[in-house]
Amino acid sequence: MLDWYKRCFAAFMAHGDGTQERLYGDRKRDLFADVRGTVVEIGPGTGVNLPYLPEHVRWIGVEPNPHMHPYVREKADDLGRDVELHAATLQDLALETASVDTVISTLVLCSVPDLDATLEEVHRVLAPGGRFVFLEHVAAPSGSLLRGVQRGIKPIWRALGDGCRPDRETGAALQRAGFDAVTYERFPVAPSFPPFSIIKPHIAGVATKAATPETESSASARP
Ligand SMILES: C[S@@+](CC[C@H](N)C(=O)[O-])C[C@H]1O[C@@H](n2cnc3c(N)ncnc32)[C@H](O)[C@@H]1O
Repeated sequence: MLDWYKRCFAAFMAHGDGTQERLYGDRKRDLFADVRGTVVEIGPGTGVNLPYLPEHVRWIGVEPNPHMHPYVREKADDLGRDVELHAATLQDLALETASVDTVISTLVLCSVPDLDATLEEVHRVLAPGGRFVFLEHVAAPSGSLLRGVQRGIKPIWRALGDGCRPDRETGAALQRAGFDAVTYERFPVAPSFPPFSIIKPHIAGVATKAATPETESSASARP
């Protein structure tokens, strides 16, 4: 049953590339333009971000749903890119500390079972000065009607949306995850997005690990 569901979810995501380009394409081109070195993408899904990444990066995909992998490989072949794919989570993979230049995620942090633990792992694997580049949907403002709807519908949404929690306060989690600097922009989705959508607003930005351990300890000592 679960395997069948994961297969269907992968097929569903594979049909969304055009919509994603329309909603996020310009923002992704900006966000990913400076990405460099060894790049680990958490939850790449069908590989929808590969076309936006500079050609020279070494790309490692950490995608626990194996049914996504054929789509990733097909896109990589079309683009003529080498990819390294793992059917795992970032924590499972246990990469070496400070071994990665950039971690990226889009529409993933809503689904990871333990957000703080995932961000802790992102921070650990990044090299000093490394960057976590993200585009995620987040909880609506506290007290808003939409926030109430997000909370009420969450059990069904999680079941249908492969674990997606529409009311996750991902921005706040990023702020407490130990990065030296976290900058992001909150943005509404494009007007043509279905008005009944509950997965909004979105945030897109960069969290940077301190360039040196000394900088990091002074940063974490800040009030
Ligand atoms: C909504 S999809 C987004 C896929 C893609 N990033 C995109 O922008 O279209 C969420 C993805 O996160 C993956 N995922 C869920 N939990 C994860 C985890 N703990 N670690 C890595 N990926 C995870 C899912 O398998 C799925 O591919």
